Amino acid sequence: MVQREHMPTFEVRTPHSTYSSVVRRGILSEAAKHVPAKAGSVFVITTEDVWRFHGHKLEQSLNGRAAEVLFFPGGEKNKRLAHVEQLAEQMLERHGDRTSIVIGFGGGIVTDVAGFLAAIFMRGIPVLQIPTTLLAQVDAAVGGKTGVNLVTGKNLIGSFHQPLAVLIDPDLTTTLPEREFRAGLFEVLKCGVIRDRAIFDLMAERSREVLAMTPAVVDELIAGAVRIKAEVVSADERESGLRRILNFGHTIGHAIEAETEYVRFLHGEAIAWGMIAAAHLASLRGLLSAQDCNRIVAAVHLYGPLPDASDLDPERLIRRLGSDKKTLQGNVHFVLPEEIGKVTVISGIEPRLIREAIDRALASRA
Ligand SMILES: NC(=O)c1ccc[n+]([C@@H]2O[C@H](COP(=O)([O-])OP(=O)(O)OC[C@H]3O[C@@H](n4cnc5c(N)ncnc54)[C@H](O)[C@@H]3O)[C@@H](O)[C@H]2O)c1
Ligand SMILES: [Zn+2]
Repeated sequence: MVQREHMPTFEVRTPHSTYSSVVRRGILSEAAKHVPAKAGSVFVITTEDVWRFHGHKLEQSLNGRAAEVLFFPGGEKNKRLAHVEQLAEQMLERHGDRTSIVIGFGGGIVTDVAGFLAAIFMRGIPVLQIPTTLLAQVDAAVGGKTGVNLVTGKNLIGSFHQPLAVLIDPDLTTTLPEREFRAGLFEVLKCGVIRDRAIFDLMAERSREVLAMTPAVVDELIAGAVRIKAEVVSADERESGLRRILNFGHTIGHAIEAETEYVRFLHGEAIAWGMIAAAHLASLRGLLSAQDCNRIVAAVHLYGPLPDASDLDPERLIRRLGSDKKTLQGNVHFVLPEEIGKVTVISGIEPRLIREAIDRALASRA
């Protein structure tokens, strides 16, 4: 049992599969254990930067098992079908077949692309996810959503393809640029607001240790976020109900990302502004106390500085809400906190209130 404490494992159970997400420093060295003995060739999908930092450890951990390493250029603009096709051609040139397996080794862009490649290569082969950014560890790699972008929008082509397992090694994040690390922290803070006050309190009260990447604190946060993602996906794989709560901060966050053409803000940073706006909206709607609203806004700013958003035009952001992928039949849904640790999903909010919430958010400061 003691060992289990050092190795939090969270099961994702969906109608078609059950798998583990394991959070442990050093788990990368055990990758071979998670590659089925009867699997054929192993294809690692990664980017050059990740391979430079951590490739030797994955190679070693595969324990002499031959693996083909296929590089993907990375970046949101390359998360496109054409690259998936190129990777599939490369797999065939290297004798990939129905017994092959894919390992996604990188940030969320890599795990989305590798997962989608595995979902459609010869109508589907297994994928083992080894996420290397904080954001991919706490979010993208767990839950089976895979896909690529269209010119008209993000993640518009994709598939649900649950992995064999997700190996989450917090040590890998120590090489992340600080800004990427902070961007991932906003998704952890999101988990606290939607479902776990203890995670929120830890982030609100111990930001210095979190930002200094103190292992005990970071590991607890990662494990907490992965637990929540695993619970939510297990209850609702296809996002017809509970899974929507993961979109807290994303309604306005997505509009901010799109409005700034995905250049000014990292995803987590746009979501951070979105969470501030959602907290104000909840407060304006009478759902959330002013005190909890202020605590959420202050906690977000602890992990800043956020790129400036004060020049954004609220009316343009509101117009974009209607075209978000998550909008159902023209109805914009907001995930709004009722208290820290509990949210509700609401549609049909008056544009006047949304406007006011955005104004307050964009004017907010650390
Ligand atoms: N499938 C899902 O459920 C889901 C959920 C959330 C986000 N996503 C997707 O995830 C993507 C964003 O992921 P991201 O934030 O990880 O960005 P990313 O994959 O672009 O990674 C960020 C940068 O860090 C580099 N990097 C990765 N690991 C590193 C390491 N250990 N050390 C140093 N550098 C490293 C990458 O090469 C890249 O330059 C988006 O495309 C988003 O749509 C998917
Ligand atoms: Zn997100």
